[in-house]
Amino acid sequence: MKLWGGRFEKQTAKEVDDFHSSIHFDYRLYKQDILGSIAHAKMLGKQGIISLEESQKLVSGLEKILKDIENGQVKFSISNEDIHMNIENLLIQEIGEVGKKLHTGRSRNDQVALDVRMYTKDMINQIIGLLVNLEKALVKIAQEHTLTIMPGYTHLQKAQPITLAHHLMAYFEMFRRDIERLLDCKKRVDSMPLGSGALASTTYALDRNWVAQELGFSSITRNSLDAVSDRDFIIEFLSCCAIIMMHLSRFCEELILWASQEFQFAEMDDGYSTGSSIMPQKKNPDVAELIRGKTGRVYGNLVTILTVMKALPLAYNKDMQEDKEALFDSIDTVIKCIDIFTHMIKTTTFNKEKMYDQASKGFTNATDAADYLVKKGLPFRSAHEVVGKLVLYCIKEGKSLLDLSLDEYKEFSSIFEEDIFDAISLETCVNQRNVPGGPSPSYMKSAIEEASKWLEEISK
Ligand code: ARG
Repeated sequence: MKLWGGRFEKQTAKEVDDFHSSIHFDYRLYKQDILGSIAHAKMLGKQGIISLEESQKLVSGLEKILKDIENGQVKFSISNEDIHMNIENLLIQEIGEVGKKLHTGRSRNDQVALDVRMYTKDMINQIIGLLVNLEKALVKIAQEHTLTIMPGYTHLQKAQPITLAHHLMAYFEMFRRDIERLLDCKKRVDSMPLGSGALASTTYALDRNWVAQELGFSSITRNSLDAVSDRDFIIEFLSCCAIIMMHLSRFCEELILWASQEFQFAEMDDGYSTGSSIMPQKKNPDVAELIRGKTGRVYGNLVTILTVMKALPLAYNKDMQEDKEALFDSIDTVIKCIDIFTHMIKTTTFNKEKMYDQASKGFTNATDAADYLVKKGLPFRSAHEVVGKLVLYCIKEGKSLLDLSLDEYKEFSSIFEEDIFDAISLETCVNQRNVPGGPSPSYMKSAIEEASKWLEEISK
């Protein structure tokens, strides 16, 4: 008989068992479920709601089941619906009648909220750890490339020279925000819902704060109705995951471009590339493409849960069981993607010569030529026009700004002197951008130092 079978005269239809059971995916909450039950059982004993002896029996039974599961000795059953009732049933089989006391003052509604919160907290910590590894890898590569000049783009058109360090540290900032977002999200996950019961709390004198402390939560939920209806913390967390994937996807897109014959800025290691079954010459950036592609499912999972939750009346509804597959899939995907991306970027080689060569084409120093005239007294708008005409002349002549003679410059403005050549060298362009946030090697060094300190702090 089902644990809730008392008021039923017939069994659930076979296809319904299969349809509404969640054990095939929520089994992964077994540890959180058991730890939560152990804390609950201890508290029931401490409060005199059950005897200390009974409490002790529940605890050792649950510990035994945890071990059995971890040793692969447990087979969960579909007719027990979900992880919560599977474990409760196992407990009753293990220790007999007293096992039936575990669910005193508790509902699966607050139980599942607890388990998912505990699980999400663990996963947030794990994902932050992986992001920190990625950040460390980026800092290390950036350190080696503060002098590696490359073109910066807007509209995918060459814009101004920057450095590879500057470019990589831009991604560092994105992942820093991701870590901060996860830490902030964790504050709201970190609230203990047990004691909310099915919806209206409980008549037993539960010590909710004690359970919270025992399970490492920093607060308890404040409204029982909200606590069992709330999946905001999953939505927030899935939003964090979606943003992480968006960042990874942008980075992958750039690596894919950079690895192309057209760019040749970077080459992914053989271990992170694949070949073609027909074209012998091919080396494809499949790993980067797959990460970019997997971003879609992580976005999808966020939309899934937003849609499931919209218009649900308070309190618990079975619709909410649909939260888990979306949550688990995003977790698995994000963990795999960050980890493999970190290995891939660590083993990617960058072609400094190509980057420099490309930065010297496409008039990336045109702004600096205009700034040169401004510094000599010409208003910026007029300087912009002079250099615009110079660029047009160069395009017609097939030259770059650095190829022109001073005489040619003078035809466009008498202000130009011999020092124009130094003023628009790529090195000057980069070195002069020395304000906080800019690509100059000296600022980048301090930015990288600050980044390393922050990483040390966050890893403590
Ligand atoms: N398996 C359920 C879920 O994941 C657990 C809660 C069930 N509660 C209920 N009243 N049916 O949402």
